[in-house]
Parts: sequence; C-alpha cells; structure tokens
Amino acid sequence: MKITKTSISRLKSTDFSNLPFGTVFSDHMLICNFKDGKWGPAEILPYGPISISPGSKVLHYGQSVFEGMKAFKNSNNEVLLFRKEENYKRINRSAVRLSIPEIPEDIFMNGLDELLSLDNEWCKADEGYSLYIRPFIFASSEGVKASASEEYTFMIITSPSTKYYEGEMNVVVEEHFTRAPKGGVGSAKAAGNYAASFYPTKQANAKGFQQLIWTDSIEHKYIEESGTMNIWFRVGDKLVTPELSDSILGGITRESILTLAKNNGIKVEQRKILVSEVVEGIKSGIIIEVFGTGTAVTVNPINSITFRDEKLVIPTIEYSYAIKLKQELQGIQKGKLEDKLGWTSKVVSKVSLS
Ligand SMILES: Cc1ncc(COP(=O)(O)O)c(C=O)c1O
Repeated sequence: MKITKTSISRLKSTDFSNLPFGTVFSDHMLICNFKDGKWGPAEILPYGPISISPGSKVLHYGQSVFEGMKAFKNSNNEVLLFRKEENYKRINRSAVRLSIPEIPEDIFMNGLDELLSLDNEWCKADEGYSLYIRPFIFASSEGVKASASEEYTFMIITSPSTKYYEGEMNVVVEEHFTRAPKGGVGSAKAAGNYAASFYPTKQANAKGFQQLIWTDSIEHKYIEESGTMNIWFRVGDKLVTPELSDSILGGITRESILTLAKNNGIKVEQRKILVSEVVEGIKSGIIIEVFGTGTAVTVNPINSITFRDEKLVIPTIEYSYAIKLKQELQGIQKGKLEDKLGWTSKVVSKVSLS
C-alpha cells in the first residue's frame, strides 16, 4: 500500500479537551478507486480536500453508503477495533442495496490497520475517548443520467471523539414523517436516509426534543428506532426491542447488547412494538427503562417520550439494565474486561512506517 505521510501533523495543535462530535479529523485518510470493473490499490494520504467533478453521480443521485465504527486504546497503549467484521459485512450489504460494487476484505481490513497504525496517537487512552472511524463509498462517475455509476471511490477518515450526547434525552413520537419506507433502503446505511431525516429532526429539536422516535411508514403505529439509535424497552425483567425489517438498521451495538443481555440471564424479545403499548406501559409503570443503542452513544438512557403533547417521564431506577450493559460493553471495547466473545482485535501494521 502506498503511504504518504503528512509533513505537518495537526496532533499538537488539536484541543483534545474540546471535540464536538465528528468535527476534528486525524492526520491521514485512505482512498481507493473502482474503475473498469475493479477496485484499484488503496492509498493513504494526508487528510485533506479531494477533487471531484460537478457531474459526479453522488452529487445528483446520492448513490453513497457509509459505516460508523470505533477504536479504543487499552492500558498497554494498543488500539482495539470492535467487531470490525460486522462493519465490513454491513457496508457490503448496504453497497449491494445501492447497486455499488462490494469492497474486497483486504482493502477494508488492511486499510483500517495501516491508517490506524499511522494515526495511533489520535486515539487517546484517557477515559471517555475513542477514535470514530468513518468508511464510506460514493459514486464518482461523471454524468447526470439517472443510472448507477460506473466508477466509485472508497475512503476511510477518522475523528477523535468523546461523548456524543450530553445531558437529558427527551424524545418525541413522529407520526407524520418517515425515516424509511417498507421496501426502501432503511436497513442500509445509505447517505440519503440521513438527509431525509434532518428536516423532521430539526423540527423536533426546535420544540426542545433531542431526537425523534420513528414509527412505521404505513400506519405510524409501530415503534422502529430513535434518531440514529436502535431502541429498547425494559418491561419488568425483560428487554424488548423492535424486530429487524427492511426499514430498521440492524445495529452492531444492538446485536452486542442482545448477546450481553442473554449472557447476563436477562430475557430478550425482538418483536413488533405498538406505540400504544409503550404509552400505556410507561403510564402503568410496567415499562421501567427505555434506552437507545448505537456506536456513537453505546447505550443512552431515554428520559422521556412525548406522544401527542403528553410527556411521559421515565423515572431513573437503581438497578438499571442500561447502565449495567453499557459498563460491560465499554469494558470489553476498552480491553478492561475479558473479551470472551472475541469481539475486539488489535490494530497491527503490516508495513514498516519509518
Ligand atoms: C439509523 C440508525 N440506527 C441504528 C444505528 C446503530 O447502529 P450501530 O450500533 O451499528 O452503530 C445507527 C448508527 O449507526 C443508525 O444510523
């Protein structure tokens, strides 16, 4: 792999005590192009602007998919990646749905190893820090005919991060707009899903809510997700989360929490969940915890759900499943707890970086 190191690192001039999520980028980036029916060699370059034609298909038709993953530093100063195989599989599932050619495994995996080895210092070991990793693919052919591109660009950029949400999480049930219709691309990490969510999310933000609860596109009766998190309800001693469908993104955190919960003897149920069931459950006190899961937040308690102008507050409880599972997940991710499930892998460079 060709590697061009930056001549001026931004590491020393970066304020690590002030890192608004996803706004500061590490020194290097990976880039790889698909042309004439095949992926070319990957290359690592100093992070910086790239040049694309104004006629690039991604700018007109949004043919683009991405991933979100995190690396953590353990106490031996080693960089650990969490379940990278799952992100690899998911970016290719998303790619297939968007008619984008799949990324070969060696480009994705070696790319991560070399990029993270080079930018190792951007991943801090201190409490609360991680390195957010954003692999993405976009259509780079020139032409405004509405058809799949012939050429694509795969890139990986990384961003040092601390907490995603601060403070309370008050959410509102959305009954008009839809994140993802049935038969659409909701189960893919397609860029357009996020573009479509910004307008309704902004409206909710203006009313003082941090996020929305998305409901099904047909009847708006069933709960799907909350913002960019999968959603969970604790009903007595059981955890319930919506079953996956083509309008829900199958989160890697969701899958990990399912496993950790089961291993802790907590009963879990994946099924359709009615909005009315949640409203009644919170009112009657059967639902005692609500939380969201996702790479950026890991596990995030939800403090209230507003449904048609009625705010339903979820009181904090002493023995919280959300806190227990969050501690366990973060302990594994940071290499503080034994990784019995083989979820973490150390970043190892295969080329010597002099
Ligand atoms: C719409 C949506 N749902 C759920 C998730 C959680 O997925 P994961 O746990 O893989 O980060 C994300 C974030 O990636 C998301 O964007």
